[in-house]
Amino acid sequence: MVVAKRSSELPLPRIDPLPRHVAVIMDGNGRWARLRGLSRSEGHRAGARNIRTVVERFAEHGVNTLTLFAFSTENWGRPQSEVRAIMRLGSEFIDRHLEELDASGVRIEHIGDPDGLPRGLRHRVEEAVERTAGNRRILLNIAFNYGGRADIVSAVRRLVGEGVRAEDVTEEAIASRLATAGSCDPDLLIRTGAEHRISNFLVWQSAYSEYYFSGALWPDFGAAEVDAALIEFSRRRRRFGLVSPGPGADG
Ligand code: FPP
Repeated sequence: MVVAKRSSELPLPRIDPLPRHVAVIMDGNGRWARLRGLSRSEGHRAGARNIRTVVERFAEHGVNTLTLFAFSTENWGRPQSEVRAIMRLGSEFIDRHLEELDASGVRIEHIGDPDGLPRGLRHRVEEAVERTAGNRRILLNIAFNYGGRADIVSAVRRLVGEGVRAEDVTEEAIASRLATAGSCDPDLLIRTGAEHRISNFLVWQSAYSEYYFSGALWPDFGAAEVDAALIEFSRRRRRFGLVSPGPGADG
């Protein structure tokens, strides 16, 4: 049902239920570039440009938390020129959009290992996190130098470092030491670019996420594609391992 006209010019469909936390694997920048005879770095530039549109659309819908996978711990193995381009784009993204994101109520957090990042980018990320700390419209977690397994290893190391006894190692104890502690687990995990895998993203946190795979390449994943993913989510019946209602259900 259409309720209002918003910044993207597309009417905003009402989504019920709405996911509180959406996580996105932004895949397909390289193919988007190749189709246009451009370099992979140009594809990432187009991908970075798209982030602002997508954050705004999720915020308009009222999603609380959006986690974007921008650079994985495995991505260091890409050609150096591409890695450098992605790092540069991270800094440029903050330079270009921080003021506007702050003004529109976006709180920015970084998840992943800051130590591996170039100093300039690390400082910009810190500035973005500090400046937007009081915002409440939507939380944008940028996963940069993030790996799901490394996240779990680091949580377990913390437990060991704190001297937590084996019998006190619970799921809650681990979850509260992950990079996403404080946010609920993602209700919806989207991967663009027609690939169907999790690629070491939020491996612990996505245990009960609904998965949505889009054929759109990330730079083409706009407001209409956000809406389509949310509509599909609203049609899913989540069971969390319980028996579904109706005859013949097998759990
Ligand atoms: C996957 O596409 C994308 C990445 C590894 C990087 C994503 C980076 C950005 C969207 C821009 C930089 C980030 C910020 C926060 C400004 P791919 O290269 O694997 O695409 P392909 O599968 O088509 O080759």
